[in-house]
Amino acid sequence: MAPSAEVHDLSHDEFLAEVHSFEFWFHAVEGYLSGLTWGHRPSTVDVPLAPADRERLVTTLCNYCVGETAALEGASGLVAIAPNRLAKIFLATQVADEGRHLEVFFHRLRDLGVDDPEAEIERRASRSLLLFRRRLLELVASKDWEAAIFAQNVILESLEFAVFQTHAQDADPITGDVLRAVIKDERRHIGFGENELGRRLSAAPHIRARLGQTKKELDHLVLDALEETTTLIGVPRDEQDRLGRAYLASVERLGFGS
Ligand SMILES: [Fe+2]
Ligand SMILES: [Fe+2]
Repeated sequence: MAPSAEVHDLSHDEFLAEVHSFEFWFHAVEGYLSGLTWGHRPSTVDVPLAPADRERLVTTLCNYCVGETAALEGASGLVAIAPNRLAKIFLATQVADEGRHLEVFFHRLRDLGVDDPEAEIERRASRSLLLFRRRLLELVASKDWEAAIFAQNVILESLEFAVFQTHAQDADPITGDVLRAVIKDERRHIGFGENELGRRLSAAPHIRARLGQTKKELDHLVLDALEETTTLIGVPRDEQDRLGRAYLASVERLGFGS
Protein backbone atom coordinates (compact mmCIF):
# COMPACT_ATOMS: atom_id res chain seq x y z
CA MET A 1 0.00 0.00 0.00
CA ALA A 2 1.30 3.46 -0.84
CA PRO A 3 1.70 5.92 2.05
CA SER A 4 -1.45 7.94 2.01
CA ALA A 5 -4.36 9.05 4.13
CA GLU A 6 -5.35 5.38 4.52
CA VAL A 7 -2.53 4.73 6.99
CA HIS A 8 -4.56 6.67 9.53
CA ASP A 9 -7.37 4.10 9.29
CA LEU A 10 -5.07 1.29 10.41
CA SER A 11 -4.87 -0.12 13.93
CA HIS A 12 -1.82 1.02 15.91
CA ASP A 13 0.12 -2.22 15.28
CA GLU A 14 -0.78 -2.24 11.60
CA PHE A 15 0.21 1.42 11.38
CA LEU A 16 3.65 0.67 12.86
CA ALA A 17 4.13 -2.30 10.53
CA GLU A 18 3.29 0.00 7.64
CA VAL A 19 5.48 2.99 8.48
CA HIS A 20 8.49 0.90 9.51
CA SER A 21 8.57 -1.04 6.25
CA PHE A 22 10.80 -0.71 3.19
CA GLU A 23 7.55 -0.57 1.23
CA PHE A 24 6.63 2.70 2.98
CA TRP A 25 10.19 4.02 2.86
CA PHE A 26 10.49 3.44 -0.87
CA HIS A 27 7.28 5.32 -1.67
CA ALA A 28 8.24 8.14 0.72
CA VAL A 29 11.71 8.76 -0.67
CA GLU A 30 10.61 8.31 -4.27
CA GLY A 31 8.43 11.39 -3.77
CA TYR A 32 11.34 13.71 -3.06
CA LEU A 33 14.51 11.98 -4.26
CA SER A 34 13.59 10.88 -7.74
CA GLY A 35 15.24 13.07 -10.36
CA LEU A 36 17.85 14.47 -7.96
CA THR A 37 21.56 14.28 -8.70
CA TRP A 38 23.76 14.04 -5.58
CA GLY A 39 20.80 15.31 -3.54
CA HIS A 40 19.91 18.38 -5.60
CA ARG A 41 17.85 19.18 -8.68
CA PRO A 42 20.07 19.07 -11.77
CA SER A 43 18.59 22.41 -12.82
CA THR A 44 19.69 24.19 -9.63
CA VAL A 45 22.48 26.60 -10.49
CA ASP A 46 25.52 26.81 -8.24
CA VAL A 47 26.50 30.33 -7.23
CA PRO A 48 30.08 31.41 -6.56
CA LEU A 49 30.74 32.01 -2.86
CA ALA A 50 32.98 34.64 -1.30
CA PRO A 51 36.15 32.96 0.09
CA ALA A 52 35.12 33.48 3.75
CA ASP A 53 31.63 32.08 3.09
CA ARG A 54 33.10 29.07 1.32
CA GLU A 55 35.44 28.44 4.25
CA ARG A 56 32.56 28.49 6.71
CA LEU A 57 30.43 26.25 4.51
CA VAL A 58 33.27 23.70 4.18
CA THR A 59 33.68 23.50 7.97
CA THR A 60 29.92 23.22 8.41
CA LEU A 61 29.66 20.40 5.86
CA CYS A 62 32.62 18.63 7.51
CA ASN A 63 30.66 18.65 10.75
CA TYR A 64 27.52 17.42 8.99
CA CYS A 65 29.63 14.52 7.70
CA VAL A 66 30.68 13.69 11.28
CA GLY A 67 27.04 13.70 12.43
CA GLU A 68 25.91 11.58 9.49
CA THR A 69 28.77 9.11 9.98
CA ALA A 70 27.76 8.78 13.65
CA ALA A 71 24.16 8.10 12.62
CA LEU A 72 25.22 5.64 9.89
CA GLU A 73 27.44 3.67 12.27
CA GLY A 74 24.95 3.94 15.11
CA ALA A 75 21.93 2.81 13.05
CA SER A 76 23.80 -0.13 11.53
CA GLY A 77 24.97 -1.27 14.99
CA LEU A 78 21.45 -0.90 16.34
CA VAL A 79 20.06 -3.36 13.76
CA ALA A 80 21.81 -6.15 15.68
CA ILE A 81 20.34 -5.21 19.08
CA ALA A 82 16.86 -4.07 17.99
CA PRO A 83 14.26 -6.01 19.96
CA ASN A 84 11.99 -6.95 17.07
CA ARG A 85 11.75 -7.40 13.31
CA LEU A 86 9.98 -4.10 12.61
CA ALA A 87 12.60 -2.06 14.45
CA LYS A 88 15.36 -3.93 12.58
CA ILE A 89 13.71 -3.22 9.23
CA PHE A 90 13.12 0.44 10.06
CA LEU A 91 16.77 0.81 11.09
CA ALA A 92 17.84 -0.80 7.82
CA THR A 93 15.96 1.97 5.98
CA GLN A 94 17.65 4.50 8.26
CA VAL A 95 21.08 3.03 7.42
CA ALA A 96 20.29 3.67 3.74
CA ASP A 97 19.18 7.24 4.52
CA GLU A 98 22.24 8.07 6.62
CA GLY A 99 24.58 6.57 4.01
CA ARG A 100 22.93 8.80 1.42
CA HIS A 101 23.25 11.87 3.67
CA LEU A 102 26.95 11.24 4.19
CA GLU A 103 27.38 10.77 0.45
CA VAL A 104 25.62 13.99 -0.59
CA PHE A 105 27.40 16.17 1.99
CA PHE A 106 30.72 14.59 0.99
CA HIS A 107 29.94 15.25 -2.65
CA ARG A 108 29.05 18.87 -1.88
CA LEU A 109 32.52 19.26 -0.31
CA ARG A 110 34.07 17.97 -3.55
CA ASP A 111 31.86 20.39 -5.51
CA LEU A 112 33.28 23.22 -3.44
CA GLY A 113 36.78 22.25 -4.52
CA VAL A 114 37.83 20.21 -1.47
CA ASP A 115 40.25 17.61 -2.92
CA ASP A 116 40.48 15.38 0.13
CA PRO A 117 37.25 15.65 2.15
CA GLU A 118 38.35 12.88 4.58
CA ALA A 119 41.43 14.88 5.59
CA GLU A 120 39.43 18.08 5.79
CA ILE A 121 36.80 16.43 8.03
CA GLU A 122 39.58 15.17 10.27
CA ARG A 123 41.07 18.67 10.47
CA ARG A 124 37.87 20.67 10.97
CA ALA A 125 35.55 18.38 12.97
CA SER A 126 34.07 19.77 16.17
CA ARG A 127 35.53 18.14 19.33
CA SER A 128 32.08 18.03 20.89
CA LEU A 129 30.59 16.22 17.93
CA LEU A 130 33.45 13.70 17.86
CA LEU A 131 32.92 13.03 21.56
CA PHE A 132 29.18 12.66 20.97
CA ARG A 133 29.87 10.12 18.22
CA ARG A 134 32.19 8.14 20.48
CA ARG A 135 29.65 8.10 23.31
CA LEU A 136 26.82 7.05 20.97
CA LEU A 137 28.86 4.13 19.66
CA GLU A 138 29.71 3.10 23.24
CA LEU A 139 26.01 3.01 24.07
CA VAL A 140 25.37 0.85 20.99
CA ALA A 141 28.30 -1.44 21.86
CA SER A 142 26.98 -1.84 25.41
CA LYS A 143 23.68 -3.04 23.87
CA ASP A 144 21.68 -0.44 25.77
CA TRP A 145 18.79 -0.23 23.28
CA GLU A 146 16.82 2.55 24.97
CA ALA A 147 19.78 4.81 25.72
CA ALA A 148 21.27 4.34 22.24
CA ILE A 149 17.97 5.02 20.46
CA PHE A 150 17.50 8.04 22.71
CA ALA A 151 21.00 9.38 21.93
CA GLN A 152 20.66 8.76 18.22
CA ASN A 153 17.03 9.05 17.14
CA VAL A 154 16.00 11.73 19.62
CA ILE A 155 19.07 13.74 20.65
CA LEU A 156 21.27 13.62 17.52
CA GLU A 157 18.32 13.76 15.13
CA SER A 158 16.76 16.72 16.96
CA LEU A 159 20.08 18.56 16.81
CA GLU A 160 20.45 17.87 13.09
CA PHE A 161 16.85 18.79 12.40
CA ALA A 162 17.18 22.17 14.16
CA VAL A 163 20.47 23.01 12.43
CA PHE A 164 19.55 21.81 8.94
CA GLN A 165 16.23 23.61 8.99
CA THR A 166 17.84 26.89 9.96
CA HIS A 167 20.68 26.48 7.48
CA ALA A 168 18.30 25.60 4.61
CA GLN A 169 16.58 28.98 5.00
CA ASP A 170 19.53 30.94 3.69
CA ALA A 171 21.92 28.41 2.23
CA ASP A 172 23.23 28.68 -1.33
CA PRO A 173 20.79 27.03 -3.79
CA ILE A 174 22.55 23.64 -4.10
CA THR A 175 23.20 23.20 -0.37
CA GLY A 176 19.59 24.29 0.25
CA ASP A 177 18.26 21.55 -2.06
CA VAL A 178 20.45 18.93 -0.40
CA LEU A 179 19.38 19.98 3.10
CA ARG A 180 15.66 20.04 2.33
CA ALA A 181 15.66 16.41 1.19
CA VAL A 182 17.83 15.32 4.15
CA ILE A 183 15.43 17.04 6.59
CA LYS A 184 12.53 14.94 5.27
CA ASP A 185 14.45 11.77 6.17
CA GLU A 186 15.48 13.07 9.60
CA ARG A 187 11.86 13.80 10.42
CA ARG A 188 11.07 10.11 9.84
CA HIS A 189 13.96 9.05 12.08
CA ILE A 190 12.82 11.30 14.93
CA GLY A 191 9.28 9.88 14.57
CA PHE A 192 10.63 6.37 15.04
CA GLY A 193 12.68 7.36 18.11
CA GLU A 194 9.79 9.17 19.79
CA ASN A 195 7.35 6.37 19.09
CA GLU A 196 9.70 3.59 20.22
CA LEU A 197 10.73 5.35 23.44
CA GLY A 198 7.25 6.66 24.18
CA ARG A 199 5.90 3.10 24.22
CA ARG A 200 8.82 1.75 26.23
CA LEU A 201 8.59 4.50 28.82
CA SER A 202 4.91 3.94 29.41
CA ALA A 203 5.47 0.17 29.76
CA ALA A 204 8.57 0.50 32.00
CA PRO A 205 8.75 3.93 33.69
CA HIS A 206 12.01 3.07 35.51
CA ILE A 207 13.85 3.49 32.17
CA ARG A 208 13.24 7.23 32.51
CA ALA A 209 15.90 7.74 35.19
CA ARG A 210 18.56 6.04 33.04
CA LEU A 211 17.67 8.11 30.00
CA GLY A 212 17.67 11.28 32.11
CA GLN A 213 21.26 10.41 33.00
CA THR A 214 22.15 9.88 29.32
CA LYS A 215 20.59 13.23 28.46
CA LYS A 216 22.53 15.02 31.19
CA GLU A 217 25.76 13.53 29.92
CA LEU A 218 25.14 14.43 26.26
CA ASP A 219 23.35 17.80 26.52
CA HIS A 220 26.47 19.92 26.85
CA LEU A 221 28.11 18.20 23.86
CA VAL A 222 24.98 18.83 21.79
CA LEU A 223 24.63 22.45 22.89
CA ASP A 224 28.34 23.09 22.22
CA ALA A 225 28.08 21.54 18.76
CA LEU A 226 24.92 23.56 18.11
CA GLU A 227 26.64 26.79 19.07
CA GLU A 228 29.74 26.06 16.96
CA THR A 229 27.74 25.14 13.87
CA THR A 230 25.19 27.92 14.06
CA THR A 231 27.98 30.48 14.52
CA LEU A 232 29.56 29.14 11.32
CA ILE A 233 26.35 29.41 9.33
CA GLY A 234 25.91 32.97 10.57
CA VAL A 235 22.93 32.54 12.89
CA PRO A 236 22.56 35.56 15.20
CA ARG A 237 23.00 35.00 18.94
CA ASP A 238 19.33 35.29 19.91
CA GLU A 239 18.36 32.82 17.18
CA GLN A 240 21.07 30.45 18.46
CA ASP A 241 19.50 30.61 21.90
CA ARG A 242 16.10 29.93 20.40
CA LEU A 243 17.50 26.86 18.61
CA GLY A 244 19.05 25.63 21.85
CA ARG A 245 15.65 25.93 23.49
CA ALA A 246 13.96 24.22 20.49
CA TYR A 247 16.37 21.30 20.85
CA LEU A 248 15.70 21.02 24.59
CA ALA A 249 11.94 21.28 23.97
CA SER A 250 12.00 18.44 21.44
CA VAL A 251 13.73 16.22 23.99
CA GLU A 252 11.33 17.40 26.69
CA ARG A 253 8.37 16.20 24.63
CA LEU A 254 9.36 12.75 25.87
CA GLY A 255 9.27 14.00 29.42
CA PHE A 256 12.95 14.83 29.97
CA GLY A 257 13.30 18.23 31.55
CA SER A 258 16.70 19.88 31.81
FE1 LIG B 1 21.10 11.89 8.59
FE1 LIG C 1 18.87 10.60 10.66
